[in-house]
Amino acid sequence: MRTEHAPTIHRADYRPLAWTVDTVELYFSLDAEASIVRNTMQCTRQGDGPLVLLHEGLMREDLTVNGAPPKAMRDEDGRIEIDLDGEDAVEVVVVTRVNPSANTELSGLYQSAGGLFTQCEAEGFRRITCFPDRPDVMTRFTVTLEADRRDYPVLLSNGNLVEQGELEAGRHYAKWEDPFPKPSYLFALVAADLVVLDRKVTTVSGREVLLQVYVEAGNLDRADHAMDSLVNALRWDEETFGLELDLDRYMIVAVGDFNMGAMENKGLNIFNAKYVLAKPETATDVDYEHIESVVAHEYFHNWTGNRVTCRDWFQLTLKEGLTVFRDQQFSADMLARAGGETARAVKRIEDVRVLRTAQFPEDAGPMAHPIRPDAYQAIDNFYTATVYEKGAEVIRMLHTILGPEGFRNGMDLYFSYHDGQAVTCDDFVEAMSEANGVDLDQFMRWYSQRGTPTVHADVAFDGEAETCTLTLTQSRPDKDDEPLQIPVAVGFINAVGDDIPLRLQGEAEAGATTRVLQLTERQQQFVFEGLRPGSVPSLLRGFSAPVVMAINESDAQLAFRMAHDADPFNRWDAAQRYMTRTLLAMAASDAPEVPRAFIAAFDTVLNNIALDPAFRTVALTLPSEAYLLEQMDVADPAALRRAMIIMTQTLGRALADDWLGHDEALAVPGEYRYHPGDAGSRALRNLGLRYLCAANDHQGVGLAELRAANAKNMSERFGALMALVQSPAVEAAQLALTAFEQTFGGDALVMDKWFAVQAAAWRWSPEQPATLERIEALTQHPAFSLGNPNKIYSLFGSFFRNNPAEFHRPDGAGYRFWADRIRELNARNPQVGARMARMLENWRRYTPELQQLAREQIEGLLKEEALSPDVREVLEKALG
Ligand code: PHE
Ligand code: ZN
Repeated sequence: MRTEHAPTIHRADYRPLAWTVDTVELYFSLDAEASIVRNTMQCTRQGDGPLVLLHEGLMREDLTVNGAPPKAMRDEDGRIEIDLDGEDAVEVVVVTRVNPSANTELSGLYQSAGGLFTQCEAEGFRRITCFPDRPDVMTRFTVTLEADRRDYPVLLSNGNLVEQGELEAGRHYAKWEDPFPKPSYLFALVAADLVVLDRKVTTVSGREVLLQVYVEAGNLDRADHAMDSLVNALRWDEETFGLELDLDRYMIVAVGDFNMGAMENKGLNIFNAKYVLAKPETATDVDYEHIESVVAHEYFHNWTGNRVTCRDWFQLTLKEGLTVFRDQQFSADMLARAGGETARAVKRIEDVRVLRTAQFPEDAGPMAHPIRPDAYQAIDNFYTATVYEKGAEVIRMLHTILGPEGFRNGMDLYFSYHDGQAVTCDDFVEAMSEANGVDLDQFMRWYSQRGTPTVHADVAFDGEAETCTLTLTQSRPDKDDEPLQIPVAVGFINAVGDDIPLRLQGEAEAGATTRVLQLTERQQQFVFEGLRPGSVPSLLRGFSAPVVMAINESDAQLAFRMAHDADPFNRWDAAQRYMTRTLLAMAASDAPEVPRAFIAAFDTVLNNIALDPAFRTVALTLPSEAYLLEQMDVADPAALRRAMIIMTQTLGRALADDWLGHDEALAVPGEYRYHPGDAGSRALRNLGLRYLCAANDHQGVGLAELRAANAKNMSERFGALMALVQSPAVEAAQLALTAFEQTFGGDALVMDKWFAVQAAAWRWSPEQPATLERIEALTQHPAFSLGNPNKIYSLFGSFFRNNPAEFHRPDGAGYRFWADRIRELNARNPQVGARMARMLENWRRYTPELQQLAREQIEGLLKEEALSPDVREVLEKALG
């Protein structure tokens, strides 16, 4: 393990390397305990200086330059420098030995369920062999894998299989050649006992390509959805961006132990099994949706990430922000194809909900950074919601500003300039600018400013002139920051709820009902003509920019927009605002009560059957506690929880007959199919069960018990289980949990849900056992394992993130539990440990008593001697 205090790396310090690697030949003699890696590199000089090779935790058995030991070589802190004065081209051979079975970090070459897998992004390749392991070194790879045939019948690497055969002593080999030069972070190998689902498709130019999904034996019946998603993604990229699959063979491999979601290795994507395996009995609608988007995400990386890659890791959002935007658009198109435009809007709402819950707090906390950071200690800590999700919002704004065609032209120009290169975010934005003849210098500030901007809106009507002046003012968290270019989509609604065609001052006639205003100064005024007082503004429609929109609206105006806003996003947003203000007021009250007007507004949406169930579900789902805590002046999880309990119970009790009626009316007949319409009905029924069970409604609990026991698909079964666990019906919940465990105890992915739902359980009454004690017991469960990241995320992550009132317990037991888990994970898997460490980074937002308790634990951890750079960076910044 790395224990040294990591130095800070700065974006401004980027220098090209003096040497590059043109080709690499890797020979792996694979073994679970002792794999030997022979690496032969043809290196060429491109500037002054030594040849640099990076390495981490390796046993090096040999290193030669042109067949002899190097004459002048330094080897310090994982960095080898070899002086090669007078040479322009050399052959370097390195032989290393690695132990995959001892690799608990899951970076480099590691073992999972008896198979061998690699993970190289960002800096895992140096844990396999010595190499200039940076994304700006692009190399042609040839890879030979040799292994025992019985244990490892399947041998895969990037590109095309060019040779395979038998060897002595039960061993066999396969040789793979990747025709495309690539950075080392995209290297991958798999040696395992797997079965495969094959499909052949013809690409737009008429080439036949082989698509494959590899899974463990017994899981072949769960691979179809991933395969369908892959085919859909391939078609979509052809149609939308004119981008074709460039390989003859494209493989997806599912693995049970994986730190992240999935990895876009060239032609050989390696996936967390969670994002591959699905069948109706074990996967929920949400799982199906996630699989579709992650499969597409990795596929889209083939162009945005692999063909054009990042010059250095500071540019990470170049590939991630862009690829998240692409997968969001893809999913929205797929949903709209099957479920119409509402399905598209619901997808947008879900994406923004993630941004507000995960990214906004990050951007307001000690780890805040621009989408292109200026400095880091551990790059693994910068695979963040900011780089990914806010990065995608920045790309979306470009799409809004340039229009779909302009954006496409920019993409075409980007590829024509940079195919095969490792480039920067500036290169991307410049291509967009040049293709459209638009100056994007100001827009570039989105890449260097951190923090969520606020746009204040002031609306002033002039009744006589029938004009309305909209004054928009932007403010930045870092006071000296220059103003941003912020596209603000605006509409107005008349008294009967219809959108008004808008005419800006100076225009001859009224046009569209939604207009995108470009806010480029600190403050700007926009004058609309022909608008009567009382017209209701609807601002930031579709969430046209990742900002906080601040506007004074009465409860009545919010209720009106909840019922009438023509923009579905803003309709949802109005509901969120109304819920937020109501819950915050309740949390601040000694005798919290749900206002009657609020229940009426809620009721109106619930019973508006003209609205899709999927939309009603998102509109009637309360904001997450994480988001709400962020809105409190002093975050008080206990007070908020009390308000949440009263709110859900009241809505369950007051609207019980409505929920029960919709439950019956929305039953989905027939076989399960993954379809946004069906999924929407199931989701609204599940939401109804949650409210009903929260209120301990007799019929609701009965329905949930039945469904948890008998439902044919996991969406309904798990929805019911969740409703029971998240309720005062303690006994029914326990029975359902036990039955669920008996049915699915052997299924790791399903058990992840079982752990997560218990970790997120609220305490509805003092009789209920405290959640923390329950979690402590669950760590002893045979299906739990500290070595499996999914288990960590399900049991611990779900507790820290989704259960603030139980985690931030006034006695500090939650924080002590947290610190002990960080200690364990720090030694075993620092990447995952650092993710868990981040769950307390916003501790300064909490009450003084909680702050004191949190500080003690953070300071205690920082005294540990063997702290990994990943965990240390998080803790130091949290305290800093
Ligand atoms: N590049 C991967 C993705 O976004 C994420 C990842 C990062 C996976 C680092 C593993 C390690 O698709
Ligand atoms: Zn990605």
